[in-house]
Amino acid sequence: MSRTPPEPVIGTFVIDMPLPPPGTMGPPTQYGWLRRECPLAEVRLPIGATAWYATRYEDVRDLVADPRLIRPTINDWPPRPDRAVDDEPGLITMMELEGSRHAALRRALAELFSVRSIRRRLPHLRQSADRLLEEFVDGGQPGDLVAGFLEPFPLLAMCDLVGIPYEDRAYFLPRADAALGAMVTLDEGREVTAQLRGYMSSLLDRKRRKPADDILTGLVHACGHGNLDGESMVGFGLSMLVAGYRTSTMFLADAVVALLTVPGQYARLRDDRGLMPGAVDELLRYIPVMNGVVVLQAVEEFELHNRRIHAGDAVLPVLAAANRDERVFTDAERLDLCRADNPHLTFGRGAHNCLGAHLARAQMTVCLEALFERFPDLHVPHGHPPTWDDASPSKSPLTLPVGW
Ligand code: HEM
Repeated sequence: MSRTPPEPVIGTFVIDMPLPPPGTMGPPTQYGWLRRECPLAEVRLPIGATAWYATRYEDVRDLVADPRLIRPTINDWPPRPDRAVDDEPGLITMMELEGSRHAALRRALAELFSVRSIRRRLPHLRQSADRLLEEFVDGGQPGDLVAGFLEPFPLLAMCDLVGIPYEDRAYFLPRADAALGAMVTLDEGREVTAQLRGYMSSLLDRKRRKPADDILTGLVHACGHGNLDGESMVGFGLSMLVAGYRTSTMFLADAVVALLTVPGQYARLRDDRGLMPGAVDELLRYIPVMNGVVVLQAVEEFELHNRRIHAGDAVLPVLAAANRDERVFTDAERLDLCRADNPHLTFGRGAHNCLGAHLARAQMTVCLEALFERFPDLHVPHGHPPTWDDASPSKSPLTLPVGW
């Protein structure tokens, strides 16, 4: 006997976290409906916990900068049965710092991540891109652009700027992955976190003894002048290990997929480089990687859309859903490389907005220019589609075979 599923009653049901359609970067098809009918939905996340899911532009914009919401540490959220109340706080990065310590760190870093500083690094960034592409070509075609270029390039760029030895990646990458991984047990989490903290402390010591033209040296200098404490510096270094390049890799890989698969877009930008600054921001708006990745936790009770959010509740302002809100972006589902008015939320907002926004834009510009010059006829060969991890809410191709 077939049974009609009960009609959902808005406001009382929990939905599974929407995922991008298989084999695509997304966004999930439900976002239009959620924005219209259920702008604050209760969702069950793949890890089992539930959270409030905000999808409208103005809600996302306000929530991400709302002081009633904090960024919980990986150990504090999602709730874990094996966590004791007096446990070490675990992996504290810059994102979880609050108040005056966070403000002092942001002040110390502002000039080091400014447009001016990043612009000074552009020729060096371009050299790194060209060197990687030269090695990539040697591998023959079709070649996997993710492994050959889109993954190493942002990591190399971040390491150079911050002063983390790129040669150490075999040590810190697996540990950073483990520290973030949902599968890691509390004991393993403690161990890899201690190892990463030890690595960062000794790197800062080396900068003290042998200063260089990089951000860690700049921080050591600020610390010497009493503007900063040692713990905040370690927290910044850990943020770079866990968040300073992976998002860029995902954005670059999705940007190349979008340009190669939306007809005519790769050639359009290749032939009119004047479009580049606006096109980079349109790609940042259009690409839905920031899909449920900003997790906040309420520290006091408040109400939104007639729903009561309690202290301790998790709230996810979905930047990727806000960026497709038709009430703010005309023809929001379309990639429009000439879009003029583009107040996208991809880099967040408020005290914790993305510190690396100028670097991320510079990486995307340099990456695309290097590709246009070396591979004017870049394409995805027939029979070699990109591969995706369809279980993840935040997606970029695992492999992207290309010909040229
Ligand atoms: C396209 C690439 C990137 C995107 C879309 C992105 C996005 C974001 C977003 C949305 C936040 C705010 C999270 C929140 O509100 O909790 C953030 C924070 C941050 N991002 Fe990025 N990011 C990118 C690349 C980078 C790069 C390349 C770096 C540095 C090398 C970086 C460093 C940071 C840091 C340190 C924070 C924390 C700032 C704070 O807590 O004060 N990001 N990023």
